[in-house]
Amino acid sequence: DASDTEKGTYDHFMLKEIDEQPFVIRKIIQEYQDEQDNIKVDGNIRAAMLDADRIYIIAAGTSYNAGLVGKQVIENIAGTPVEVHIASEFSYNMPLLSKKPLFIFISQSGETADSRAVLVKTKSLGHPSITVTNVPGSTLSREADYTLHLYAGPEIAVASTKAYTAQIAVLTILAVDTATEKGIKLNFDPLQELGIVASVMESLTDQKERFAKLAKEFFTGMRNAFFIGRSTDYFVVQEASLKLKEISYIQAEGFAGGELKHGTIALIEDGTPVIAISTQENVNYSIRGNVQEVSARGANTCVVSMEGLEQESDNIVLPRVHPLLTPLVSVVPMQLLAYYAALHRDCDVDKPRNLAKSVTVE
Ligand code: G6P
Repeated sequence: DASDTEKGTYDHFMLKEIDEQPFVIRKIIQEYQDEQDNIKVDGNIRAAMLDADRIYIIAAGTSYNAGLVGKQVIENIAGTPVEVHIASEFSYNMPLLSKKPLFIFISQSGETADSRAVLVKTKSLGHPSITVTNVPGSTLSREADYTLHLYAGPEIAVASTKAYTAQIAVLTILAVDTATEKGIKLNFDPLQELGIVASVMESLTDQKERFAKLAKEFFTGMRNAFFIGRSTDYFVVQEASLKLKEISYIQAEGFAGGELKHGTIALIEDGTPVIAISTQENVNYSIRGNVQEVSARGANTCVVSMEGLEQESDNIVLPRVHPLLTPLVSVVPMQLLAYYAALHRDCDVDKPRNLAKSVTVE
């Protein structure tokens, strides 16, 4: 399919790849489903997951951010403890490993040298490994015991978008498969919930003009920006800030709402953009308190909430999805805001300065 590696009617690969996300989610549902509409995962991977007493996720960049969400999903659904580690830091401060560790490498390209270095090390210690990648046949895919394919299609833009959501979706499927094998009963239908996610993604990518306008309103002339969230939303604000800094060169940070008063709030000036995400009922009240605190100090606040938790002044209200799957949809406005912020600033969206699509040196 030529459309995979060509921009077609799009000005940038990044926007095309943002738009492809609903299709990728549907593709993943299809690829990991059997004739009876049950989730199917390779038998060896299933056995490795069941055997593990603890999972160690190793990744870099956006894949690391997806791993943070993956941890929450796997622990909640499958009940296996998970640690997430930045690949480049792992060897300096290697955690004490459990009796039966399983290593999961998340890597869009499958070529990240820092992740590979960890794989070489853990393999030499005799530990089992799975690579979750968009490129089967890549180095990490060949060298790990097993591979889980993302089915996202080639990702060309340096800033990763569809790989992030594909990684979360595939880890969700993996978690559900493990839960089923363990006899854990789920109170929701995961494939149906992922189908809802795909439709919600579509409703968001259909509103590009709105996000272009918001990006202009919040980021024009700005040197820095902050993203805040609690719980699940804290993981997404880290990805949101990475997206913005990568392509717009605005210095951006993602903070846990509760950490604001421990230092960050000192950075708030008149007009500083603060984007808050609120998709979880148990933190809605507290994160809104944080929004008020920064707003009282002059911040220009933008609130993205989930239907059912919204307030009238919210800038974006996301249609409802399952609470564990909110990162799959709350990240889409963040990707679009970053895209339009970069565009308004005349940045080279697909090829930001100093960055490479895959970093093959340690
Ligand atoms: C580079 C890319 C990022 C990516 C990271 C990890 O820094 O610019 O977009 O998230 O590498 O890449 P991987 O292929 O291992 O997911």
